[in-house]
Amino acid sequence: MAVEASNIAVRFGGVAALTDVSVRIEPGRIVTVIGPNGSGKSTLFNSITGMVALAGGTVRLDGHDLADVPTHRRIASGLARTFQTPRFDPRVSVEEAVLCGFYPQSCGTLLGTLMRIPAVSREESLFRERGEKILADFKLSALKNMALGELPMGQVRLVEVARAIANDPKYLLLDEPAAGLTKVEQALLSAEIRRIAESGVGVLLVEHNFGLVRALSDHTVVLDRGTMLIEGKPETLLHDAAFVDAYLGTTRANHKEAQS
Ligand SMILES: Nc1ncnc2c1ncn2[C@@H]1O[C@H](COP(=O)(O)OP(=O)(O)O)[C@@H](O)[C@H]1O
Ligand SMILES: [Mg+2]
Repeated sequence: MAVEASNIAVRFGGVAALTDVSVRIEPGRIVTVIGPNGSGKSTLFNSITGMVALAGGTVRLDGHDLADVPTHRRIASGLARTFQTPRFDPRVSVEEAVLCGFYPQSCGTLLGTLMRIPAVSREESLFRERGEKILADFKLSALKNMALGELPMGQVRLVEVARAIANDPKYLLLDEPAAGLTKVEQALLSAEIRRIAESGVGVLLVEHNFGLVRALSDHTVVLDRGTMLIEGKPETLLHDAAFVDAYLGTTRANHKEAQS
């Protein structure tokens, strides 16, 4: 059981966005991806969810090659993701956005029904109950009727993660979910990510804050200009000169911060 992206290559015109990149997401485990802007982190996510064409390599989900499987079927098979820039309609409420996660393929119509009429089926009341629980876990209950457009980006990102876990995924890809969050929101988010992983979900997390990377994962893949610079335990990476130079910079301040 795993998502296995092996030797992935992606090109945009003449630009090699990814070359020979491999990552494995196992149930219950958090793997982190770090690397400078433009190094291919989001493209790696897109290659796993089927949102870009592969120029090479394979993606397998629990042993099945996903080459001919479109994005919506990958999602139905247990993949969920968040976007680096959340793609919400700003008029949608927090509650609607999370409920949307239960219906990843037909959100609009079904959601309309769900919001207008009292819960008629067992499934709907179950979803509502689970939605309430997820909102509470993410401390979003008080905001549930707010439109997303009225919220700061940090909270929109929390809603995005809450939406992604609503459909009970087996594997969860989080693209910089902590960007723009306050310290308190970050702590809440990391606790949630840990809890999600402990419940058996395999998590792939893009995160710039190396302190958070160390706290959450025991395996980190470092991308640099579309290639894998190095991978391993975050602690081990800190002893690698090439990594420290490329990623943390050579300033002692940066290095110290990462070690603290
Ligand atoms: N849809 C696209 N069309 C053309 N180039 C793209 C596209 N998406 C990403 N790229 C390019 O691929 C490279 C990797 O981008 P991205 O995966 O977004 O990096 P990261 O998430 O690490 O910041 C960058 O050079 C970026 O400009
Ligand atoms: Mg990105």
